[in-house]
Amino acid sequence: MSLSDDVFSQSVLSFSSATPGEDQRWSTWPSIIPSLRGPRPWPSWMVTSAGAIDTELGVLKSGKEADVFLIERAVPGAESVRLAAKRYRGTETSDFHRSSQYTEGRRTRRSRDSRALQKKSAYGRALSAGLWASAEFSALSELHTLGAPVPYPVQVDNTELVMEFIGDGREAAPRLASIRADAAELADLWHQVVALMRIFARAGYTHGDLSPYNLLVHHGRVVVIDVPQIVDIVSNPSGVELVERDCLNVCSWFQRHGVECDPQELVGELIAEAFGS
Ligand SMILES: Nc1ncnc2c1ncn2[C@@H]1O[C@H](COP(=O)(O)OP(=O)(O)O)[C@@H](O)[C@H]1O
Ligand SMILES: [Mg+2]
Repeated sequence: MSLSDDVFSQSVLSFSSATPGEDQRWSTWPSIIPSLRGPRPWPSWMVTSAGAIDTELGVLKSGKEADVFLIERAVPGAESVRLAAKRYRGTETSDFHRSSQYTEGRRTRRSRDSRALQKKSAYGRALSAGLWASAEFSALSELHTLGAPVPYPVQVDNTELVMEFIGDGREAAPRLASIRADAAELADLWHQVVALMRIFARAGYTHGDLSPYNLLVHHGRVVVIDVPQIVDIVSNPSGVELVERDCLNVCSWFQRHGVECDPQELVGELIAEAFGS
């Protein structure tokens, strides 16, 4: 978006009656610094106007560590897009119980921040929520660039990650765990899951929390979500163990649904990809 677009939309707004109401805010996009905006090229559906308003349409899912909201980013009377806003909790309710296993090998440069994280102070919890949001944003950006089927990451702002909404209307796409599919559809879904795990592995990663709950199925297309804990298979001491767990989680679901798959064979293949052999 050029500066003149910005000025134009602001001047249009100043002649209109649009002001944010309840459950609304000015689009946060204009205030996001470039490195915290999604990778280019920006998708054609993005709304980047400074005259846009974000409207909260409701909660898609309330979780232990984060809540996911449906928002609409729209220029009144013109373009609009629905987005998912994942807001990490910075309070006691968020314990990030497995965090040390995932973050081994990652470092916080500022020692005050490391101490706050260890002590779980209020500042530490807020910091940790922000770190998880930015970790998920970075992972989505990298995975999107690698061609993995993930929601496009629009922006991150402190504890809020805004991404492409996978769904229709106000309904999020169903999780793999809750779909009904015939044998041919299941075989196709399995191939898609293996293909996305290969993309992760070729770049040295495994999801780290892969399960039928973190795979959405949108019109037959598998989209993988919930990637803040993405694991570097080679440098993380639990890397191989986490590849095995991811493979077992998905294989056992597909096996229960009648798809033949061998988790050990998949583990071997993914580890070979990750180690580049
Ligand atoms: N981009 C998205 N589009 C649609 N629904 C989403 C999206 N991201 C998350 N959701 C919904 O929110 C739920 C929780 O999101 P997830 O990232 O798995 O967080 P967590 O499991 O940590 O609470 C998902 O199962 C899905 O229903
Ligand atoms: Mg999840």
